[in-house]
Order: sequence, then structure tokens, then C-alpha cells
Amino acid sequence: MAFKIVAAIAVLFFYHAHAVLFAETAQTGSLQTEIKALMAFKGSITEDPLGALADWSDTSHHCNWTGISCDPSSSSVVSISLEQRQLRGTISPFIGNLSRLKLGACSLLVQIFLYNNSLSGTIPAELGNLRDLQGLDFGNNFLNGSIPDALFNCTALEIVYLNSNNLSGSIPSNMGNLANLQAFTAYANSLVGFIPASVGMLKLLKVLDVSQNQLSGPIPAGIGNLSSLEILQLFQNSLSGTIPPELGQCRNLSLLNIYRNNFVGS
Ligand SMILES: *[C@@H]1O[C@H](CO)[C@@H](O)[C@H](O)[C@H]1NC(C)=O
Ligand SMILES: *[C@@H]1O[C@H](CO)[C@@H](O)[C@H](O)[C@H]1NC(C)=O
Ligand SMILES: *[C@@H]1O[C@H](CO)[C@@H](O)[C@H](O)[C@H]1NC(C)=O
Ligand SMILES: *[C@@H]1O[C@H](CO)[C@@H](O)[C@H](O)[C@H]1NC(C)=O
Ligand SMILES: *[C@@H]1O[C@H](CO)[C@@H](O)[C@H](O)[C@H]1NC(C)=O
Ligand SMILES: *[C@@H]1O[C@H](CO)[C@@H](O)[C@H](O)[C@H]1NC(C)=O
Ligand SMILES: *[C@@H]1O[C@H](CO)[C@@H](O)[C@H](O)[C@H]1NC(C)=O
Ligand SMILES: *[C@@H]1O[C@H](CO)[C@@H](O)[C@H](O)[C@H]1NC(C)=O
Repeated sequence: MAFKIVAAIAVLFFYHAHAVLFAETAQTGSLQTEIKALMAFKGSITEDPLGALADWSDTSHHCNWTGISCDPSSSSVVSISLEQRQLRGTISPFIGNLSRLKLGACSLLVQIFLYNNSLSGTIPAELGNLRDLQGLDFGNNFLNGSIPDALFNCTALEIVYLNSNNLSGSIPSNMGNLANLQAFTAYANSLVGFIPASVGMLKLLKVLDVSQNQLSGPIPAGIGNLSSLEILQLFQNSLSGTIPPELGQCRNLSLLNIYRNNFVGS
């Protein structure tokens, strides 16, 4: 599953790189702003025991820094991949500045993978500026505060992994904006409130795992709209009501775990 999604992102990524070439000469944003944003990202990392960011300095081109990939023609950052680097610190809001203005395409950063570090603090709402963002993996960190509503303005998002953090608050109700979403995991956090009814809009969603939180209310009937759904993990919450018969319409569902909730009926 993960591989399929990564492959889909890779395909989109190459498609995108071509589209960008087209708009290149109309660039109005500044490379300096991007470099400043990357340096601010480094500046908010307080511990880097493996020296992952040691080469993030003006002695080399930023496109050659560890974990950074660029669009070759514009040197705009397209990807930050710093998984399992034992980084400690916070995620700088400057990350939202990695979106150079272009004619016909307003941003470029397409993926941010920070899985399994020791990042704390909140998810910056400034991520909402990254309208081309397709993949975000903040799983296995110590992030707290709530999932910013603004994040769900990034309508290109295909995968969002926020699992195994210390997130509180509720899942933003504008989740239905994410028409391209294929996988959403937020398991093992402290989320409260309802599963947004707008989840029924996510026609491409294959994986929904919000298990091990304190979610309440019913399973939205709109779940029956999710014809692509393969994995639904809702266990260990405080969900209630009856199990909607619409769930039977999810023909591709192969894994369903809803134990340890307060459901009634058949
Ligand atoms: C990155 O490093 C390689 C090898 O050191 C070099 O050939 C290349 O020009 C560098 N790229 C940029 C964008 O400076
Ligand atoms: C970038 O983002 C930060 C924080 O979100 C902001 O304070 C700053 O003015 C922005 N602009 C530039 C050009 O760095
Ligand atoms: C996370 O990284 C640590 C090393 O920093 C490793 O020991 C651990 O197995 C990793 N955990 C997961 C879930 O990948
Ligand atoms: C997040 O954790 C920090 C300590 O790491 C704490 O100071 C802050 O109040 C927490 N914020 C929220 C919203 O829980
Ligand atoms: C998100 O999108 C909505 C509707 O398009 C807009 O009203 C709101 O200002 C946006 N929020 C941010 C933080 O961009
Ligand atoms: C998560 O946050 C709560 C307070 O909101 C705190 O009591 C708990 O220790 C935090 N857990 C972790 C793993 O940081
Ligand atoms: C189900 O999908 C249809 C469009 O195909 C949409 O109009 C409807 O609002 C969705 N239902 C829910 C509950 O999300
Ligand atoms: C359901 O699964 C089948 C077989 O993997 C696939 O061909 C089909 O496209 C899937 N349907 C949806 C709506 O994703």
C-alpha cells in the first residue's frame, strides 16, 4: 500500500516538474526567501546527534543539502526528507515560505517527511501556504496542539501521516477539501470530537486510521461513499451509535477494526 502511494506521488512529481518548466521565466518569488526558510528550519532544531543538517550551510548549494531535493531547472525545493534522523526541536513556521510564486502555479514544495524524530511543539499553520503539498509525514514525534485547519487548505495532499504524536483538539471539519487524499493516519494521539461528516467527500481515500484517540460521536454515514476504502481503523476511541449499514457499500474494504468503542445494535 505505502509503496503504491509513493509510486503515485513519484508519477505526479515528474508530471509536475514538466509543468513547472513551462512557468519558469515568470518566477516572481525569491530564492533567498527559500534559503532563509531552510536556515530557519535548521535554526529551530536544537539537537542533531547524527549531524544530518551539518552540511546545511552556505558552503554548498542548498539543493545538495542532506534531505533536500530541488526542481533542477529552478532550484526550488520540492522535497524535505529527514526521516529517522533523531532530530530534536520544533518545526519552524518559516517552512510555509517554501512556496515560490509562479505564474499559474503558486507553490512547489511537494513533500515533507519528518517521520520518527523527536520534534515537539505544534504543527505550523503556515503549512497551509504550500498549495502543492502532496505528502506529509510527521508520524512518530512529540508534536502537540491541534491539527491546523489551514493544513486542509492544501488540496493537493495525497498522504497525511500524523500518527503517534501528542496532538489534541479535533480533526478539522474541512477535511472534505482534500479531494486527492489517499491515506490519513492520526492514530495514537489525543484527538477528541467527531469524525468530520465531510469525510464522505474523499472519493480516493484508501486508508483511514484514527484509532487510539478519544474521538466520540457516530461513524458518519458518508463513509459508504468511500468506494476506494481498503483500511478503516477506528479502535480504542469513544465512538457511539450504531454501525452504519452504508459501510457495506465499501466493496474494497479489507481491514476493519472498531473494537473498544461504545457502539450499540447489530
Ligand atoms: C551538487 O554536488 C555535485 C557533486 O559535488 C556537483 O556536481 C553539483 O554541481 C552540485 N549541485 C549544485 C546545484 O550545486
Ligand atoms: C517567512 O515566514 C516567517 C514566519 O512564518 C515570517 O515571519 C517571514 O516574514 C516570512 N517571509 C520571509 C521573506 O522570510
Ligand atoms: C525510530 O528511530 C529510533 C532510532 O532513533 C529506532 O530505534 C526506532 O526503532 C524507530 N521507530 C520506528 C517506529 O520506526
Ligand atoms: C506542547 O508542549 C510544550 C512542552 O513541550 C508545552 O509547553 C506546550 O504548552 C504544549 N502545547 C499544547 C498546546 O499542549
Ligand atoms: C483556507 O481556505 C478558505 C476557503 O478557501 C479560506 O477562507 C481561508 O482563509 C484559508 N485559510 C488559510 C489559512 O489559508
Ligand atoms: C501529552 O500531553 C499531555 C498533556 O496534554 C501530557 O500530560 C503528556 O505527558 C504528553 N505526552 C507526551 C508523550 O508528551
Ligand atoms: C456522497 O457523495 C456525493 C457525491 O458523489 C455527495 O453529494 C454527498 O454529499 C456525499 N455524502 C456524504 C455524506 O458525504
Ligand atoms: C477495488 O479494488 C479493485 C481490485 O484491486 C480495483 O480494480 C478497483 O479499482 C478498486 N475500486 C476502487 C473504487 O478503488
